[in-house]
Amino acid sequence: MKIVITGGCGFIGSNFIRYILEKYPSYKILNIDKLTYAGNLENLKDIEKNPNYKFLKKDICEKDLEEFIDDYDVIVNFAAESHVDRSIYQPEIFLKTDILGTFNLLEICKKKNIRFIQISTDEVYGSIEKGSFEENSNLNPSNPYSASKASADLLTLSFFKTYKVGVNIIRSCNNYGPYQYPEKFIPLMITNAIENKKLPIYGDGLYIREWIFVLDNCKAIDIILHKGKEGEIYNVSSEFSIPNIEIAKKILEYLGKSEDLIEFVKDRPGHDRRYSIKCEKIKKLGWSAETDFEKGLAFTIEWYIKNKNWWRKIKYSKSFISHLEKTYK
Ligand SMILES: NC(=O)c1ccc[n+]([C@@H]2O[C@H](COP(=O)([O-])OP(=O)(O)OC[C@H]3O[C@@H](n4cnc5c(N)ncnc54)[C@H](O)[C@@H]3O)[C@@H](O)[C@H]2O)c1
Repeated sequence: MKIVITGGCGFIGSNFIRYILEKYPSYKILNIDKLTYAGNLENLKDIEKNPNYKFLKKDICEKDLEEFIDDYDVIVNFAAESHVDRSIYQPEIFLKTDILGTFNLLEICKKKNIRFIQISTDEVYGSIEKGSFEENSNLNPSNPYSASKASADLLTLSFFKTYKVGVNIIRSCNNYGPYQYPEKFIPLMITNAIENKKLPIYGDGLYIREWIFVLDNCKAIDIILHKGKEGEIYNVSSEFSIPNIEIAKKILEYLGKSEDLIEFVKDRPGHDRRYSIKCEKIKKLGWSAETDFEKGLAFTIEWYIKNKNWWRKIKYSKSFISHLEKTYK
């Protein structure tokens, strides 16, 4: 199989590329990434010389992108502006990459008869007090990030209905694991705790998310790549949920640090209280999440302990410091 992966230098994309090249040594991958602040070539240093792997530095919004995509079976679109906090103070780039970028890729798939897999999120459904959303639940996004992802989902479905492009949409819950950019909740908590810095927690800390270890999500995407039915949406979740404050406490306990490091900060506007999704559809294809949260979290903490050079370069950059100042005012 010949696969185009966009956004492969980010967190989930880099884990997915490594997973695919290991599992299917004959598959060929073209990774297209603009290398925004979140894209990092170091995430794939160990496989950059693999003869089945090619990298192209390019924006998915560029119109001439199609010249570089010939003879591929499928595009898996991970490329996105992905951080909710940034979408609140800088929404326009989210609309550009997440909506227009997806549109550009869909146009290429239509023209060249290529399958398209959109990597989406459970955030498109919005908040749910009790119970869980299914794939046919209404979309009710609350912030510019989730609204741009929901728009991309609708465009993707429209290309299936109107032009018969073979699409799938994968909506997963929050991922965690190695190579996650340290602005995101779990790596921010881990790296701050390692450095004895305060752990900023929004509001009362009782915001609930479902968490999946990134390799379990990679396996889910693999299943859909091989067994997904055209035009279908698949939810992907561990179905394990926990309030943010409890995650912070678990991290501090693992590292032997005091809970005094926890600092409650002013809440994020439009903050969804709880996300929850059901994923019976993908389970019917033979997938289920395998990694227990405690084990996955311990593995992730150990990875950040061993890879301080990787995240310290990021955390001590001017742009990262300025982002933190804007976010946790
Ligand atoms: N991380 C999560 O918990 C999570 C959960 C559900 C869904 N998702 C979705 O999964 C995908 C990947 O998320 P992630 O956490 O790995 O994100 P990330 O921010 O770590 O990586 C995004 C990657 O996309 C690249 N990129 C951004 N704009 C681009 C553009 N215009 N052209 C080409 N490349 C561009 C960046 O350089 C980066 O390498 C996103 O679509 C996100 O919406 C993430």
